[in-house]
Amino acid sequence: MQINHPDITQVLVTADQIRDRISELAKEIDEFYSDKDVLLLGVLKGAVPFMADLSRALSIPAQQDWMAVSSYGSGTVSSGVVRILKDLDADVKDRHVLIVEDIIDSGLTLSWLTSNLKARGAASVEIVTLLRKPDAAKVKITVRWVGFDIPNEFVVGYGLDFNENYRSLDGVGILSPAVYS
Ligand code: XMP
Ligand code: MG
Repeated sequence: MQINHPDITQVLVTADQIRDRISELAKEIDEFYSDKDVLLLGVLKGAVPFMADLSRALSIPAQQDWMAVSSYGSGTVSSGVVRILKDLDADVKDRHVLIVEDIIDSGLTLSWLTSNLKARGAASVEIVTLLRKPDAAKVKITVRWVGFDIPNEFVVGYGLDFNENYRSLDGVGILSPAVYS
């Protein structure tokens, strides 16, 4: 579905821009892991399109696994509580793990996830996120690859939802507050 949609007040990233940025990120990630075996860890459900496109843009061999965590409930403001809804299938001990995330807002989710993976004995944990909001600067996590820095607005599309809607939009845009207020 196209990002030009009546409920989107402003398009922030188009499908073309996402495609171009993913090929740039893939080149850097190929280089970084050229001598390592990497496990791509997607965060459900928002990172599904990003994982699908990024993994196919990579030239290095990589496995995939998924986790579902929740920090938001169904609202638009972070609760600060991270819960595992679905755990990994793989054993991450001694593995190089690359977390593939849709968006970093407060950074709470990723800061928790990074420590959790290190506690399980991962050899390294890096993060690639498609989108980053300004508040992410407040927490102490190193995000090695960022697709786009975006303003502090609630956004949907390319995997990101509001009440499970809008995930299939091909770009990312600001959701009209009229939809959720
Ligand atoms: P934190 O605050 O822990 O949040 O970095 C990251 C998770 O919160 C969700 N999130 C959003 N989802 N539009 C969405 O659809 C947004 O603007 C937004 N901001 C944060 C998302 O699940 C992310 O993984
Ligand atoms: Mg997410």
